[in-house]
Amino acid sequence: MNYDQIMQLALERGFYFPSCEIYSDAQAGFWEYGPSGVSLKSKFIELWRRELVRRDRMLEIDGSQIMSQSVFVASGHLSSFADPIITCQKCRSIFRADKLIAEITSVVVPESAELEQFDKVIAEKDVRCPKCRGNFDNAKKFNMMFKVGIGPQSEAAYLRPETCQSIFVDFPRLYKTMRGRLPIGIAQIGKSFRNEISPRQSLLRLREFYQAEIEVFCNPDKLNDIDGFSEIENTEIRLMIDDTIIKPVTCKEAVESGMLPNKLVAYYLALLVEFYQKTGIDVNKSRFRKLGDKEKAFYASVAFDFEVETTIGWLELVACNYRSDYDLKSHGNVSKEKFEVLHDNVKVLPHVFELSMGIDRSLYTILEHNYKEDKDNDRIFLSLKPYLAPIHVGVLSLVKKDGLAEKTEEIFSKIKRKYDAFLDHSGAIGRRYRRLDEVGAPLAITIDHQTLQDDTVTIRIRDSMEQERIKISDLDSHITKATSYP
Ligand code: GLY
Repeated sequence: MNYDQIMQLALERGFYFPSCEIYSDAQAGFWEYGPSGVSLKSKFIELWRRELVRRDRMLEIDGSQIMSQSVFVASGHLSSFADPIITCQKCRSIFRADKLIAEITSVVVPESAELEQFDKVIAEKDVRCPKCRGNFDNAKKFNMMFKVGIGPQSEAAYLRPETCQSIFVDFPRLYKTMRGRLPIGIAQIGKSFRNEISPRQSLLRLREFYQAEIEVFCNPDKLNDIDGFSEIENTEIRLMIDDTIIKPVTCKEAVESGMLPNKLVAYYLALLVEFYQKTGIDVNKSRFRKLGDKEKAFYASVAFDFEVETTIGWLELVACNYRSDYDLKSHGNVSKEKFEVLHDNVKVLPHVFELSMGIDRSLYTILEHNYKEDKDNDRIFLSLKPYLAPIHVGVLSLVKKDGLAEKTEEIFSKIKRKYDAFLDHSGAIGRRYRRLDEVGAPLAITIDHQTLQDDTVTIRIRDSMEQERIKISDLDSHITKATSYP
């Protein structure tokens, strides 16, 4: 299995496909979710709410995608959210300096390095344009935010480059009106926008993408005072620190040995692993990689990337950033709003630990880790967790005639509002099963001549392909049991 096979499946089975694809000026880095993709995404989000937001009694908000310029003056994105780029003097092609240098030479220049460092390596290693062999102009910074003009006067505003900025801006109101108490998680799902220089690999580097972000506001003096810690102290995580892979350790060991800075960080890393385990991603192929100073985002003081191994390498699915008081302090300074809160009768400016999840990448990884080639039976199937499957149950008539189509539709009508059910009358039954296998439908029921006599149907299980006969009156409880959350 490889990336191209996932891509083919995604295109053919309605998971995702390029945006504006019928036009020649379609831009790279924009993709649409089709019906299977939307259904998978909604269920992924429901699982996220269940395992993180509701489990930890977080607050969830839904903020604007366009935010005013002051927000990004305060957040630092206007001055610092920029990639180093180089332009070919001959053909004017533009490349990300750090990526091109890494591809052509073995030298790693971190993206946050001084611009002169890129120029130096380019000169020393004689890095040339891969398209025309031309030389490059000096490296410069390119801000990745999309600017928009509001109203007839075109006042400057920006599409948000991360969803969390509204969480920071809204914090004083939310904390007061929702009667908050530290530590408190505030969560948001939504789109963010980044003008990537080289968008690529469909869902993996997009210019418009979904984030599920959680910002945990905490008292910096109470980072080891975490109520739920005992629930997760034995959860095992894999860490990579200073390029060294550490064998799986429990969260308790990780805190006691100093590999993780405190119990608060450990608690949320554990919740993440437990969540991803339930998505069907193989967490034995995951790690939290501690980022070095040069790799961290400008707002982070400590950062761990949750990465998962795929056929195209390690993919970062979640950035876990200890943002300290960076954001609240800056928004307080620029807006003059008060961000301090009372905690145990002491006034504190909360610190923030963030779990910034890329939904699109997570969905790709779920597809890849569940893609199964069953050569014996000449089929491909997605072994998705039944509660994440885009279609819970296929409803098929063995043949259309003899009243079977009508009976099939009657059964379909009874279940279609409660489950994601798919009605299919046409084509060979084997081919209809194959199509359901390819979208990961865990169940298929077939209505045949015996159904008309004894009100039973066959139910086929996706992974084993086994079939059993059950009564129509038991169908509802059977599907519920097979597709419910663990
Ligand atoms: N909020 C952190 C990020 O977008 O990576």
